[in-house]
Amino acid sequence: MIFLLTLLGCCWLAQGVSYRKLYKDAVIHFKDPDFEAGKSGQLTSTASNLLRDTAHYKAFKKNAVFVEKHNREDNLKWVATINEFSLETDEEFSRHLGLNMTREIDEEIQLLQRKKRSTVDITLREELEAGEVDYRSYLPPIKNQGGCGSCWTFGAMAALEYQINKDRPVDGEMVALSEEQCVDCTGSNGCGGGWPTACYTWGHYHYSHWASSYNYLYEGRSGLKCRYDDYKDGMSGFKFTKPSGQYVAKSDEDVLYAVADNRIGVLSCAIQVADGFGSYSSGVYSSENCNGGVNHAVNIVGYGTLNGVPYWKVRNSWGRGWGDGGYINMERGVNGNNLNMCHLTQYAHYPYIEGSDDGQGSGTESEAMRFECGDGGQVEYRGEVNQTVSGRTCQKWSSQDPHSHSRTPEGYPYSGLEKNFCRNPDGESSAWCYTTESSKRWELSRTVL
Ligand SMILES: *[C@@H]1O[C@H](CO)[C@@H](O)[C@H](O)[C@H]1NC(C)=O
Ligand SMILES: *[C@@H]1O[C@H](CO)[C@@H](O)[C@H](O)[C@H]1NC(C)=O
Repeated sequence: MIFLLTLLGCCWLAQGVSYRKLYKDAVIHFKDPDFEAGKSGQLTSTASNLLRDTAHYKAFKKNAVFVEKHNREDNLKWVATINEFSLETDEEFSRHLGLNMTREIDEEIQLLQRKKRSTVDITLREELEAGEVDYRSYLPPIKNQGGCGSCWTFGAMAALEYQINKDRPVDGEMVALSEEQCVDCTGSNGCGGGWPTACYTWGHYHYSHWASSYNYLYEGRSGLKCRYDDYKDGMSGFKFTKPSGQYVAKSDEDVLYAVADNRIGVLSCAIQVADGFGSYSSGVYSSENCNGGVNHAVNIVGYGTLNGVPYWKVRNSWGRGWGDGGYINMERGVNGNNLNMCHLTQYAHYPYIEGSDDGQGSGTESEAMRFECGDGGQVEYRGEVNQTVSGRTCQKWSSQDPHSHSRTPEGYPYSGLEKNFCRNPDGESSAWCYTTESSKRWELSRTVL
């Protein structure tokens, strides 16, 4: 500790930055969780070890000096803070990103992107611009991609989750869908980066079967087997009507119309993470350094105006501890609507999806837990009902057509998976079966016994 104080003292005083203040920041943010309030602070051993290492020390110094300097600016639009990212080198920080825009994707977007609206209703636009929308309560809690470049899957899932959740009661539980399914199954680069629409395209070609992130858990690494079929469908009743995504348009104005329309609402977006973004704490973020390409996926989940500055409400995938509870406000309507803050609105898109909740999904936490733990309904049933509750015919357990699955008689030798009789091998609320219709993966049994 004395070594650290000396180090901080010698170098930071020379730059006119108060090392006491910086050291206090470091102690506040990296203190030992067991540290008792009121005593002199103590850094966690990880943090103090990291700070002893030259690369991390340099990173912390750079970030701390940035925070100190930024927060002293006049007309401050946003407040910066020391946080868990402050100790990271550029290389470590880049692992929290992971957007890979290939030339093929760029060309596809050029083709798909609609022309800017030609007729603009000025009154409507002004009304919308002055208003406020916020869809955060239709999304599951903020997630965390960790040190895996999988931002693209988080961006894809949040826009999809909104579509699945938008008709649910706002104070109820929300469906959360699996990022890992996209990392494992799409054949993209996993933690090495990708583009959000790869998830939708894959879903479109796989019966729109998407597991909940409460069942198909996030691992944050590449190279795992695709296991979607081990889990019930988290978005039962919905289907992707096309591969890829619907691109909204290039200007802030078109995106405003889309976000204000609660049928579209949440958008998957690409941004450039520039200097200072990682240390955002509150206010309306804006940067003059977004002159490069996009490198991170986030979501627009609403908009408003704070202290006279219009902003987009943006959801990130860096945990709840980052930013404003995991969210950031990014400046909206910069330069007469044409230059979008760090490209935020440029690639905005959402999934092609239709349908409605059929009550059979396993997407919310409690539905997913029921699937995992089971409540044992009709586990012993060995009857011959071969139709589902809506009158669909059951698929044979030994068949993989039309639905390929892992509930095989060999895999579940004690569950009586004979012919196409309804059974409950996995703790559903009652016996069920896969159906012979490719558009309906599975359903509960016709008869509740
Ligand atoms: C982007 O994706 C392409 C195609 O999968 C791959 O060849 C390329 O190496 C990736 N680029 C980066 C920077 O990850
Ligand atoms: C369903 O069960 C009934 C009664 O056991 C049987 O007559 C019928 O052939 C079965 N249908 C199919 C498609 O298996």
